[in-house]
Amino acid sequence: MTNSYILCFILLCLIGGQGLVKGVKGLACNWGTQSTHPLQPNIVVQLLKDNGFNKVKLFEADPGALKALGRSGIQVMVGIPNDLLAPLASSPQAAINWVQQNVSNYVSKYGVDIRYVAVGNEPFLKTYKDMYLQTTFPALKNIQAALIKAGLAKKVKVTVPLNADVYQSDSGLPSGGNFRSDIHDLMISMIKFLSDNDSPLTINIYPFLSLNADPNFPKDFAFFNGTAAPVVDGSIPYTNVFEANFDTLISALEKNGFSTMPVIIGEVGWPTDGDPSANAQYAQRFNQGLLDRIFQGQGTPRRKTPPDVYLFSLIDEDDKSTLPGNFEKHWGIFYFDGAIKYQLNMANGKSLVPAKGVRYLAKQWCVMSPDASITDPNLASSISYACSYTDCTSLGYGSSCSRLDARQNASYAFNMYYQTMDQRKGSCSFNNLSVVTNLNPSQGTCRFEIMIDLGKHETAPRSSLAGKIQTSTMGLIVVLLLIIYGAF
Ligand SMILES: *[C@@H]1O[C@H](CO)[C@@H](O)[C@H](O)[C@H]1NC(C)=O
Ligand SMILES: *[C@@H]1O[C@H](CO)[C@@H](O)[C@H](O)[C@H]1NC(C)=O
Ligand SMILES: *[C@@H]1O[C@H](CO)[C@@H](O)[C@H](O)[C@H]1NC(C)=O
Ligand SMILES: *[C@@H]1O[C@H](CO)[C@@H](O)[C@H](O)[C@H]1NC(C)=O
Repeated sequence: MTNSYILCFILLCLIGGQGLVKGVKGLACNWGTQSTHPLQPNIVVQLLKDNGFNKVKLFEADPGALKALGRSGIQVMVGIPNDLLAPLASSPQAAINWVQQNVSNYVSKYGVDIRYVAVGNEPFLKTYKDMYLQTTFPALKNIQAALIKAGLAKKVKVTVPLNADVYQSDSGLPSGGNFRSDIHDLMISMIKFLSDNDSPLTINIYPFLSLNADPNFPKDFAFFNGTAAPVVDGSIPYTNVFEANFDTLISALEKNGFSTMPVIIGEVGWPTDGDPSANAQYAQRFNQGLLDRIFQGQGTPRRKTPPDVYLFSLIDEDDKSTLPGNFEKHWGIFYFDGAIKYQLNMANGKSLVPAKGVRYLAKQWCVMSPDASITDPNLASSISYACSYTDCTSLGYGSSCSRLDARQNASYAFNMYYQTMDQRKGSCSFNNLSVVTNLNPSQGTCRFEIMIDLGKHETAPRSSLAGKIQTSTMGLIVVLLLIIYGAF
């Protein structure tokens, strides 16, 4: 009696323990490296570990990132950029070389735990027109063959991260989901191939973009705890666009005979700057809701088992193109330097942990000189010049620095240029309109950054070049810029 009671108790503990463990099996995120001043890879790996990330997705086989991930306990999805799809599609040997150099090498020499190869990045995006339609599937097949040849195919799976615009619903409801008609057959062939090779489908879902694209989009529907009226689909009430979008894909898969096809969410997140709906408050609300779902192991109405979710993104990238919008440089949970933007409740009651051991440039900023006048005829062109070389997206409408006055505005632009140029001599001399100060000019939400020290600030060549450009060619550049700006 007592014995069986104890056994029962132990069993209950085990079951209960598993229930707890379920929530903390680890988090996944994207690590993009398009930054003028990237964090050292070993600092990023520590940042990942400190915050409970045990899976990471890279957009290309970045050697620094991969080496730092070696023997870290973090599983890796390594991406192949779209511009490599054509060569990999046309040559099995190119695929063999790619796998040799970018997978086998890191697995055997550095102990990197590579689990997936992501072939292309959103190659069927409508805005790419048909640019990668012919090459994606052949490249996928060649990479799979190369993984088999390298003896890695059991452990390393292929996938293709796709944008959510590869499917749609004519009825506007998740149950009406199917693949876009122009790529329907291609999608089916590709999914069959992935399925045959025990590989998942990867999809990127962006509630932020849904909100951003449509001024009439019900805002609360973008978040997980909103109070908007649900969208009712048969017997299912949908209260957020994330579930509705994901289930549209699940319907599309079910309709085409792939109801058990595994799905990974390759990117999902919320930016914090560069747009009126991109701010820390919204990002915190969205990401906390998302994390809570992940911790609870919550699925969607049509797919009860939760997918792996790669947050987008770990850190900001100031070198990304702003073609999709100014918010594109601000998707990080952390700033570019691993500093915390907003708090999140992580697993087991923990909070976010910032990056450790970051080396910064000197604590000094470039600002508009108190002696300079805002009516100075050179001021506008100096700001344009500074902003054409650096990230001034925080100055735009509805952004974190949009409330600065004209002087602070100029200071922000000058400082971004000065920091991006590694505080080098001559990089704070805008026609005598600027000075270096030790007083932090940051204002409220507007952060006057100091860049990471890349060890470049003492080298003369680029600084003297910057000086020369400013004094001799600046007039010409300004004229060109005015023409370019005028064209917009
Ligand atoms: C390995 O990946 C890098 C980064 O994407 C790329 O530049 C390089 O060409 C790849 N190696 C081969 C042999 O394709
Ligand atoms: C939604 O969740 C966020 C983050 O947990 C919280 O700050 C916010 O107050 C919640 N909003 C509503 C409407 O419950
Ligand atoms: C600040 O600079 C931005 C970008 O150059 C510009 O759009 C805005 O109008 C400026 N604001 C002020 C107050 O000068
Ligand atoms: C900047 O000021 C210095 C000293 O007053 C002067 O010699 C120089 O010509 C000025 N440069 C410009 C570009 O106005």
